[in-house]
Amino acid sequence: MDKILVLDFGGQYNQLIARRVRSLSVYAEIKNYDKITSQEIRENNYKGIIFTGGPNSVYDPTSPHYSNDILELGIPILGICYGDQLLAYMSGGEIASANNNSEYGRTNLISLGGTILKGLPKESICWMSHTDYIKEIPQGFVTTGYTDSCPCVAMENNEKKLYGVQFHPEVTHTEYGMKILSNFIFNVCNCTPDWKMDDFAKSSIEKYKKELKDKKVLLALSGGLDSSVVALLLNKAIGKNLVCVFVDQGLLRKDEGDYVEKVFKNTFDVNLIRVDAKARFLNALKGVTDPETKRKIIGKEFIEVFKEEAKKIGNIDVLSQGTIYPDVIESGKDASAVIKSHHNVGGLPKDIGFKGIVEPLRDLFKDEVRQIGIELGLPHELAYRQPFPGPGLAVRIIGEITEEKIKIAQDSDAILREEFLKAGLDKIANQYFTVVTNTQSVGVMGDARTYGYTLALRAVTTDDFMTATWTKVPYEVLEKISSRITNEVKGINRVTYDITSKPPATVEWE
Ligand code: XMP
Repeated sequence: MDKILVLDFGGQYNQLIARRVRSLSVYAEIKNYDKITSQEIRENNYKGIIFTGGPNSVYDPTSPHYSNDILELGIPILGICYGDQLLAYMSGGEIASANNNSEYGRTNLISLGGTILKGLPKESICWMSHTDYIKEIPQGFVTTGYTDSCPCVAMENNEKKLYGVQFHPEVTHTEYGMKILSNFIFNVCNCTPDWKMDDFAKSSIEKYKKELKDKKVLLALSGGLDSSVVALLLNKAIGKNLVCVFVDQGLLRKDEGDYVEKVFKNTFDVNLIRVDAKARFLNALKGVTDPETKRKIIGKEFIEVFKEEAKKIGNIDVLSQGTIYPDVIESGKDASAVIKSHHNVGGLPKDIGFKGIVEPLRDLFKDEVRQIGIELGLPHELAYRQPFPGPGLAVRIIGEITEEKIKIAQDSDAILREEFLKAGLDKIANQYFTVVTNTQSVGVMGDARTYGYTLALRAVTTDDFMTATWTKVPYEVLEKISSRITNEVKGINRVTYDITSKPPATVEWE
């Protein structure tokens, strides 16, 4: 299988680059620039290397650099944004600060043709984000593209197979971005498009049939996409030797626990144990109001329950996890910027007594995982469900968690989802839910005064959940939801809509 290396210099679109390459059916993997040596790059037989963007300036002594050996490996290189400047700098070019001429956003690209811009019209739109620019291109290179304010935004040295673009071909705003990536991957690197998801599913099943023969494998199934796909994959490979433990902490969406159980037990005949741990979680959360403490308690309790179940099952050889590629990349990075502690099954303790770990989705992006799920017959509802946080509704209930508030969260969320589906808003919003605030206020119902909770509706539109904008929901839909919730959900007498984007807010309220 041909592979492209995405050498990460810290830019925000780096995962996107790898995904775009994979969408051309060529396998791409991301490595931090300081986690792989040029010797290792040579040994890995990459067909091409992409230097990513990054927030730095090449002359800044703290900026990420790479040893010049990489230019001598004979492997084609495409530099993007900072990667373009770095490539020019390493090859002897001169970089300067554009100061007042920095370009951000949609920019008119004038193409002069060449290898990388082959097939582009003379003028097209590209997406820029830079302050520095290449003032003097290195010897042996030619300029193949420019803009009004930048003399070189595409350069190439065909003899050495080195290429650079100042803009971002990986973002959809760059009209011919995929053409540029495909020129590099197929015309320069000569890759064969042989990365296919159906092959992946088939070959994984075959592989685990052999590797896990006669082994007992334990999986924490949450009903989320990743663990669901692992369950289906391993169920096909080893059948009843896969034991799935589904911990129902009582903080799931309305009827969700029953649905997940039904799908995996009845439709797929998966060996599933559902643990009803609601009382235990509620007890542990009694009187707790601090968001981080809630998260920590839920994470700890989950591990305890899981450990107890594992002990009851006994003789487990292997633990399986739904780790996916972004988790692998993120865990290799500095965790100091983590804003909320996430309690996912990725963090299971090592002392359960198993002898190995199997992570079948470790190399895959979310959309690839979804594709496999669909191939394995995962219902549309599970394959396309919006993300749901590990701590469940607990992060959507402000203040102390009580049975009453859980019911409010579940019933109101069900109404919101129903109305979003009817209005087709599920295609526009990537995540939508309700939040039970801890604020109570006065209302009136019939002739009587009420004192009920204020409910917040939240809906966001986003690509990656790192940033998000609040979804512009039509007034009529908001009106219908508000009216239904105040009529049908006991305890709510006021509904608001959260019109904050991320940042400064986060998607969840806690
Ligand atoms: P925030 O609230 O940080 O959420 O803007 C970004 C995305 O992450 C989800 N989220 C979680 N997912 N475990 C998860 O698996 C968690 O603890 C958790 N907290 C937030 C959130 O729903 C949104 O999609």
